[in-house]
Amino acid sequence: MVKPFSFARLPVIWFGRGRFGMLSGLVKKTGRRVLIVTGRSSFTESVYGKQLFRELAREKVGNYHVVVPGEPSPAVVDEAVKGFSEERIDLVVAVGGGSVIDAGKAISAMLPLCESVKDYLEGVGTKEHPGKKVTFIAVPTTSGTGSEATKNAVISERGADGFKRSLRHDNLVPDVALVDPEMTLSCPRDITAASGMDCFTQLTEAYLSDKSNHYTDALALEGLKAVRSSLELSIQDGQDINARTGMAFAALTSGICLANAGLGVVHGFASSIGGMFDIPHGIVCGTLMASANEIIVRELRRTGNNTTAINKYLRLGKLFLEEERRSDDFYIDGFVDYLQRLTSESLLPRLAEYGLKEKDIETICRSTENKNNPVKLTPENLAEIISSRL
Ligand SMILES: [Fe+2]
Repeated sequence: MVKPFSFARLPVIWFGRGRFGMLSGLVKKTGRRVLIVTGRSSFTESVYGKQLFRELAREKVGNYHVVVPGEPSPAVVDEAVKGFSEERIDLVVAVGGGSVIDAGKAISAMLPLCESVKDYLEGVGTKEHPGKKVTFIAVPTTSGTGSEATKNAVISERGADGFKRSLRHDNLVPDVALVDPEMTLSCPRDITAASGMDCFTQLTEAYLSDKSNHYTDALALEGLKAVRSSLELSIQDGQDINARTGMAFAALTSGICLANAGLGVVHGFASSIGGMFDIPHGIVCGTLMASANEIIVRELRRTGNNTTAINKYLRLGKLFLEEERRSDDFYIDGFVDYLQRLTSESLLPRLAEYGLKEKDIETICRSTENKNNPVKLTPENLAEIISSRL
């Protein structure tokens, strides 16, 4: 039976090879002043950057440029908003990885308000964003967070009182997601692996989430099929355009799924650990995914009260394993084994490499949420997950 559900808005999606060529036309249709947000690596010097700036100049579209190095902090967002608040910006375009897209999303949301983004972050500030923003176009250059389709921007501040929290509103879903897999061809191997594992985690957690529904399940399974066929190939050979296309599709789909079904405990860790340590989001997700799923499966079997989730693990096992006509337990355990193998073959670093120590585990577990997870995990379960990847 189809249970009641709701589904958030989607961006207008342009997906496929060569779609980047549409960007200047989309910009021109929307306004005369564009703020372009990019990462540290030199988009402006790339073939794509040169093409875009040439076309904008030809169309007489005024353009401004902000560089966002790393994951965005409130200071980075506030500075950009302050710097361009007088320029009557018509639209913001972010070209980059998840951090750049989140930064662009937050800048587009804060330009009409001209206040500090910190006041509007969940669990940090006290104000609610009104949902008014400048038109926003997201152009991903990695396949991971799916931020091109989500309604939140993750903003972080590091340190003892650090946080990694979201600015969120249904209206913050980008107006346009321009997804061109060719843009991801130059993504280095380590970032391809970490962001690919993030995308894999998002699809799996959204599929298993207790907030999932028929729509998100259908989408998550299609995204997971793309992960099955493309993730390992995209890590082994970054120039494999078919694998890059599969992962670009999987990432976009993971964003749609997480916006509508929520995520699980691995993303709970990404928030708590990410606020304390300078660890890329994809690394936290990738390194913890296998051990988290191993413990979730164990606890699901022990408690025995969520057959829906167990059946979903069975489905995942059948999707990821080649063997036929084996027992249910074979497929369920096989899925966890598959994740373990992927973790070691992708050479995902352990948490200690980023300074995380045994003594930090208790603090981390205290601030780790596991809402939407298919089984409630105890602080001991959470500690076990981190310890196995220290
Ligand atoms: Fe993620």
